[in-house]
Order: sequence, then C-alpha cells, then structure tokens
Amino acid sequence: MEKKTVWIKTFGCQMNIRDSEIMSQKLAEQGYRACASLEEASLIVINTCSVRAKAEQKLFSLLGSLRAAKQANPSLRICVAGCVAQQEGKNIVERMPHVDLVIGTQQIYDLPEVLARAGTVQVRTELSETYHIPRYLQDPGSLSPAPEAEETALFSRYVTIMQGCNNFCTYCVVPFTRGREVSRRAADIIDEVTRLVGTGVREIILLGQNVNSYGRENPVCEDGAPYPFSRLLRDVAGIEGLRRLRFTTSHPKDLSDDLISCFAELDNLCPQFHLPVQSGSDAILRKMNRKYTRADYLDKVDRLRAARPDLALTTDIIVGFPGETDADFQATMELLERVRYHGSFSFKYSDRPNTAASSYTDKCSEEIKSERLRIFQRRQDEISLERNREYLDRIVDVLLESVQDDGAMGRAPTNHIVHLEKRPDASPGSFIRVRVTGAGQHSLKGVPLGS
Ligand code: 5AD
Ligand code: SF4
Repeated sequence: MEKKTVWIKTFGCQMNIRDSEIMSQKLAEQGYRACASLEEASLIVINTCSVRAKAEQKLFSLLGSLRAAKQANPSLRICVAGCVAQQEGKNIVERMPHVDLVIGTQQIYDLPEVLARAGTVQVRTELSETYHIPRYLQDPGSLSPAPEAEETALFSRYVTIMQGCNNFCTYCVVPFTRGREVSRRAADIIDEVTRLVGTGVREIILLGQNVNSYGRENPVCEDGAPYPFSRLLRDVAGIEGLRRLRFTTSHPKDLSDDLISCFAELDNLCPQFHLPVQSGSDAILRKMNRKYTRADYLDKVDRLRAARPDLALTTDIIVGFPGETDADFQATMELLERVRYHGSFSFKYSDRPNTAASSYTDKCSEEIKSERLRIFQRRQDEISLERNREYLDRIVDVLLESVQDDGAMGRAPTNHIVHLEKRPDASPGSFIRVRVTGAGQHSLKGVPLGS
C-alpha cells in the first residue's frame, strides 16, 4: 500500500500556522500521518510567506535542497502553498521543476482533492476579486489539534475570523497574496470557540490581517445588522469557560472607542495589544498610506492605557522606507521613547512585487537601513528590560505551556514568557500563581506562590 506520510514546514505569521493546521487536519482525514523529518515523508508541504524578501529566499533555498530528495525518490510529492505560491504561481514550477503542486491562499482547503489527481503538475492560485468566503472559513473542519501540533494546541488555539486586506499600505504585499478582506460569519466563529472550549481549550487567539475591520465588507450575521469587531469580542469573551482571549493584528485607524472600552470591561480579554505603528514620522506614514498621524496614534495609546493601565503594548516598525530622512527616523525613535513598548518587531524596508513603494525612486541604502535597525533594536531592548523589571515581585497568573523535570514555562496575561526554575506541581494547560523573581529582555522568571 502507498505510504502516506506528510512533513509540513510553515514560514510566516499566525495566519499561516493556522492554515497549516487546517491542511494537516484535512490530510489526516485522507490517511496521511505526520512525520517528524522530511526524509520519511511521501508528501512535503511548504506553507510560505512573502511579506519580506528574506522569507521568500528561505523558501527557494529549501526547495533547492529538496531537488536531490526528489531525484532519489521520484514518488515524493512537493507542494508549495500560501503567500509565495499565490504570488509566483507557475514561476515556481518553472524555476523548480521538481515541485508538483502550487496552491494559493484561497485553495488550501482543496489540497487533498488536488492531491488525489495524481501524476500531473498543478498550479491552483485563483484569487477571488469578489467577497467570496473561502470554504475553510465557512467550515473549519475537525477541531482537534493538527497531528504534529505542540501540546499547547490542546489548550491554546488560533481561530481565523477574517482574511485579506483592503488597505494597500504602499509597502505591503498582503492585499495581493491574501486578496480582498472577507469576514467569517459570527455564528460560525462563536460555534467554533464554544466547541474548542468544550474540549478543554482555555485560550483563544482571534486572527485576521486586520481584525478591527471585521464585519465591514460583508454581512456576518443573519439579519445583516452591523456587527463590528467589538461586538464579536464581547460575544466570544462571554463564552462560558473561556479563560483568556487575545487577538491580532490591528490597524490603528480602525481601532474604535468601543474596542478600547472592551479592555476596561472584559476580564478575560488579556491586557496585551499589538498595535503596529510602522513609523513615527507623519511624512512617512502618509507615504505608507497608513491613514493616521502620529498624534492620532498616540491619542489611541493614551486611551488604551487609561482603559487598561496594565496593558502591555507591542508594535511593528519599518526602518528605511523610501525617502526616510534622519529626521523621520528620529521621529520614530521619539515615538519609541514616548510609548515605551514592551516589545516590538522591527524590519528593514524590503521591496515587494506589485506594491506602490517598490517603484519609488528614493530608496535608502542598505547601510542606512542596517544602521537604523541596529539603533532602534538596541534602544528597544533596553526599554523592554526596563519594562520587564516593573514586574519584579508582582504576582501573575501563568498558563503553563511545558513542564520539565527541572522547571517549566508558561505565559502571563500580558503574553510575557515566564520561566520557572523548579518543576511546579501542575501540568501544562493549568494556571498557577507565580511571583516574579527575575526579568530579562525577552522573558520573566518566577516561583510558584507557596513554594
Ligand atoms: N518591508 C519590510 N517590512 C514589512 N512589513 C510588511 N511589509 C514589509 C516590507 N515590504 C512588516 C510590517 C508589518 C509586518 C507584519 O511586516 O511592519 O506590520
Ligand atoms: Fe499590509 Fe497594511 Fe493590510 Fe496590514 S493593513 S496587511 S500592513 S496592507
């Protein structure tokens, strides 16, 4: 009998992690068993990211290294899925003829059917221009964790609520790889979360490219009444037994007062917020087509902190956007000093296909980008350490993710990783109260209360 073993490699964001989970579940239904190494695989699926050029290069170097494996085993099937698949389509097969399947972001659900048509190279990358809800957003399929999932998947799960983006920030490839914004029906989301909580899941992370504009582009409830993200958040937070609720990613321009009130109202909405600012300079924000100013952003940060004083804020920053002057970069550094983020993800601007910024002629040099990134990251690391020291001696609730003989790891409500130096008397998935005894740049240390 044909051996059915699959090895899935995922690059990129949480949306991709969730999409890989869906592909893995669908393949398991067809009898595929997940394997730990690619040598054992009869099928290799690479779920790809194209947000920056580096992520795309990683795909092509992995594909290059698989050429020999395919020569040694011609029945091996190699599938490229996700954002680079969407963007490059048949170019991938032309450049890497040992690839069998290319599956775009709206076809991942069809992977098993496409596979069943044996023998031919297939490229499936149709991207709907209308507000079509992809099949996997209508019916997420099995709710059990993917076969190769980490143990945390038993109690912490991603739920996709929308996908695509209509914003067209001038640097961003996402509107081209994920297509137009489309939201899932609210009742389907509530049903999925209710069922997950019923299986013992304690933490839910709602996902979308821009969750703040949930429900804006297509009706999401039966009567077609307005159903904004804040309403969804309240409805999901009210599901009996859900201990922790988080969401990502948000666009500052769509962050409503009502959503800010949710942080004051909902106990199980975690005090953590990722609010990408990208730049602290109004001139650059305008060139990026972000549709907010530095002052608008700072006002929202102040109101969020007033609603929830213990909120841990993180952000994304791009340095070296075309035309960024020293003064523009300085404005980003000043914003960092003003907000004092708990952490941030910072990137050098990278040209992406189809984007408006890729055709701008005032690009920054590689040296300037590297230098600015270094300066930003060094200061952020100092601030993260200072922020983390504020937690010393505080008591935090930790959701345990892993337990070893000599310690354990879990997360605080603020999403800080907390390391315990002694094995606690509790298993992964349970909550323990911890006193914080140490703070590093990227994590906290602590001891369980009463030990
Ligand atoms: N160059 C650099 N960083 C980018 N990002 C998105 N597109 C680019 C690009 N072309 C960053 C943004 C976004 C994060 C997910 O990736 O900061 O918020
Ligand atoms: Fe990209 Fe902007 Fe859409 Fe975010 S909001 S996915 S940065 S286009």
